[in-house]
Amino acid sequence: MQKKFWGSLVLVAGLLCANLLGTPTSVKADSVSKTTNKSAVVSFDHYSLKINGERKFIYSGEFEYWRLPSPSLWKDVLQKMKANGFNAVTIYFNWGYHSPKKGVYDFSGIRDVNRLLDMAKEAGLYVIARPGPYVNAETDAGGFPNWLTKEEGKVRNSDPAYTAAYEEWLSHIDPIIKKHLITKGGNVILYQVENEYGSGDADYMQNIIDKVKADGIDVPTFHNQQDGPGSQWASGTGAPDMYAFDSYTKTLGNLKTNFGDAHKYAPNSPIFVAELGNGWFDPWGGVGYDAMRQKFNADYQNVVYKNIIGEGATLLSYYMTYGGTSWGYLPFPGVYTSYDYGAAISENRTIDAKTAGQKRIAYMLDAVKPIYETDSLSEGPMADNASIRLAKLQNPKTQTQFYILRHEQADSTNNDEVSLNINSADVNKTVPVTLNGQAGKILIANYKFGHQKLVYSTAEMMTNYSNRGKDVAVFYSQKGDKNETVLKFDRKPQVNVRSGKVDYQWNEKEGYLTLSNQYQGLAQVDIRSGRQNLMLLLGTDDEAGQLWQQKTHAGTILESGSYLVRSASVKGRTLALTGDTDKRTTLKVYAPDFVKTVTWNGERVRARTVNGSLEVDLAGPDTRKVSLPKLTTWRYQEASPETELNFDDSQWTIADHTTTNSNTKPTTLPVLYSDDYGFHHGNVWFRGHFNGSGNETGIKLYGSSGSHGAYSVWLNGKFLGSADGRKTFTFPEDAVKKDQDNVVSVMVTNMGHEENWGITPTFKNARGLREASLQGTDVSNETIQWRIQGNQGGEDLKDTARGAYNYGGLYGERNGWTLPGYRDSAWRKVSLPNNQGEAGVGWYRNSFDLNIPKNYDVPIALKITDDPSYNYRAYIYVNGWLYGQYINNLGPQHEFYLPSGLLNEHGKNNISIAVWGLDDQGARLGNVELVQDGIYKSSLNVQQVKAPDYQDLFSKGHHHTKSGVHQ
Ligand code: GAL
Repeated sequence: MQKKFWGSLVLVAGLLCANLLGTPTSVKADSVSKTTNKSAVVSFDHYSLKINGERKFIYSGEFEYWRLPSPSLWKDVLQKMKANGFNAVTIYFNWGYHSPKKGVYDFSGIRDVNRLLDMAKEAGLYVIARPGPYVNAETDAGGFPNWLTKEEGKVRNSDPAYTAAYEEWLSHIDPIIKKHLITKGGNVILYQVENEYGSGDADYMQNIIDKVKADGIDVPTFHNQQDGPGSQWASGTGAPDMYAFDSYTKTLGNLKTNFGDAHKYAPNSPIFVAELGNGWFDPWGGVGYDAMRQKFNADYQNVVYKNIIGEGATLLSYYMTYGGTSWGYLPFPGVYTSYDYGAAISENRTIDAKTAGQKRIAYMLDAVKPIYETDSLSEGPMADNASIRLAKLQNPKTQTQFYILRHEQADSTNNDEVSLNINSADVNKTVPVTLNGQAGKILIANYKFGHQKLVYSTAEMMTNYSNRGKDVAVFYSQKGDKNETVLKFDRKPQVNVRSGKVDYQWNEKEGYLTLSNQYQGLAQVDIRSGRQNLMLLLGTDDEAGQLWQQKTHAGTILESGSYLVRSASVKGRTLALTGDTDKRTTLKVYAPDFVKTVTWNGERVRARTVNGSLEVDLAGPDTRKVSLPKLTTWRYQEASPETELNFDDSQWTIADHTTTNSNTKPTTLPVLYSDDYGFHHGNVWFRGHFNGSGNETGIKLYGSSGSHGAYSVWLNGKFLGSADGRKTFTFPEDAVKKDQDNVVSVMVTNMGHEENWGITPTFKNARGLREASLQGTDVSNETIQWRIQGNQGGEDLKDTARGAYNYGGLYGERNGWTLPGYRDSAWRKVSLPNNQGEAGVGWYRNSFDLNIPKNYDVPIALKITDDPSYNYRAYIYVNGWLYGQYINNLGPQHEFYLPSGLLNEHGKNNISIAVWGLDDQGARLGNVELVQDGIYKSSLNVQQVKAPDYQDLFSKGHHHTKSGVHQ
């Protein structure tokens, strides 16, 4: 109570001060973060966010560092986002990724988020921080740490155990974020509390907000309502400073047009789409990400994103912009290893037409500032052609207008021509506009830029800027479209078409110069009018999409012709560019006239002047310099010693719990849930010993792994079968040894912990065995004693660099067979495909050298192919990192991208693959090869990620043999 009272007092005092100091008041008063005052660095009103009082359009994209465990590549992704016009990056911080054990937190190495936030700032991006506590994100337990499965009670509410737990997390992550707040000289501008929280515990929400503010977070907080807009946490107790929501348009036909409703519930918040679908996740057995990328392609973006801008949104964040990899045991049961998402930057970090589509929008939003403050003038189907929808926005101060068009039926692929009435300050005219196929257009009228006046254009503006002595504007249209661009001048300008084909007409009476592009390459038109000179670039959307733009202290630079330009800076008369090429190319550079020399990635390149701009030739990668080795001979070792009767399990944990905090009630006792014994990931072994009476006929088991789960069962080394869920396994005749020890061995997989949408702790659903009961007359289940073994050390990690999600409880995982440096010379040599001959686990190892030239970026993947009728699963370790889970008879993933930094591109690499054959037939491994997904000459510089090898983790000279070692 008291906290809130003081909170509002500070707010009132702040507003009072603001007025006394004469802060300009607009119709809609600025809202500021409740604990900040009039000097708030980040504030907002109904129209937009403001940073230091200046309106911004926040164009952000989601990137999850924990799905790319190679920090040098964080920089790559962030630079690619910046180059493509993003001004912010949105980051989910994953609690579980940092906390393997209650009270233990790790922010080093691949978990060094401090470094990540530094990199984002260096790249020139603002950060929207989203530390949960719950994030969802298709990851294990939705980001909850696994030790939380053992705690009592519900979650995402005010339960005491949960409250203590998440406050512990916030106490660790908030100080890091605090250091990087824009108010402290950093770049974090917004902070999300919770995520899609629909369960309504307002005290819980308020407690997070109070805690976060007490931790010193003084930028606005917001929440992300699922599938908004709506009223959730828009006002009242538990409402953060700003209102926000997410929006996923999975079917174009269902495009929403109610975004403006956000203002009904939160009249002082701008329209903030905290997650805007830029793809979707794919489940086990799904369609694969190539299909996903095709579905959410550049045309889709054109319709959906422009629609949202037409709805008045001024903050948006694409989910995902780089999806990455749910490496290790990071996936929740609904997804497989790749989390490519069909996002603009693909999992292997390549960019394409889809990225270019976002760039065209991004550059426009950066340049055309009147769009940050608009009122809706009208919205709906057009009068003369109801199949086209028009949204009309206008800036109340400059009267600049925006006409946003698309097909009313958003998935329509029709070609249409409509008559658009442009009715603005100095024109009232009806002009033809074409919409070919799945197209969306944002047309601008009555817009002053630089020293120029645009009356209107039926082409879209990509960018404009003003350098000393020259204004520049770029327009684009779909190839073949009719389009006209009308500029106003006081007297007849001199028009010089330097390249391409452009028609123009001067109308003396109105002072209008009308230009129309004929699409013969990117056209350049220079215009002298007595005002500052104007250069126009007019092209197709593809040609515009190839432009790169950077701002330097000497002015704005544009280039066209290379795969990527990462950065530009000007020193004296030299322009220094960095970037990547995918082939030999001519780069056209539009720079201020005084720039005479150019360097590319630090090397001087000869510059020619053509049509007043510079051209340089850039070398491409030499494809002959990269060849990937063939993986021919493998070493093989079978490794399910846990199935054998005489296997020494004396060091294993006795499974004797009779109570559990799980969300699943056990059918039989003891509790056989792996989480309860601290084994949270991958495969777990159970061994049940019983003294045979001779009456035991079988065992009834109920395995619980999450969807697509499985377990395999043996009695005294004899394979009984595999199943998922409930099944009774019959013991073969005479297999039980009377009056002697017998052992049932069960290996149960864990497909990851469920997400947790509500307060019911679904992430605590059982993993392991819900039921284990010996069958037979007069057989007591109490005679069986169970032991359990999962990953080595449980919550006490042996390998903290790779971390908790990297290891399960397979024999080879526990004994370092996954690691570089493990000596496998005694293993049998095999070639692939190899049939193992019996169900259970077998390990394959291989090594190879890579010799990729320095400053090449070569995405490499490991590919497994086999006849899908074989029932096996594989766990792929590369240099000790679990970088792929493969299910041969389910798919769809066959290619596993291996990021540089984990992969050693300049030396030796190790692969270890564990294969679990679920039946005798299926125990095999198909073909395994390395594949190359492109080749780039790049300024990217990748450092190897430091992680221990076999010698570091297992005592020197200690050689493990097949079954000589327990645990
Ligand atoms: C959202 C959620 C994200 C992610 C996404 C689907 O609703 O906030 O965390 O799960 O759905 O990819």
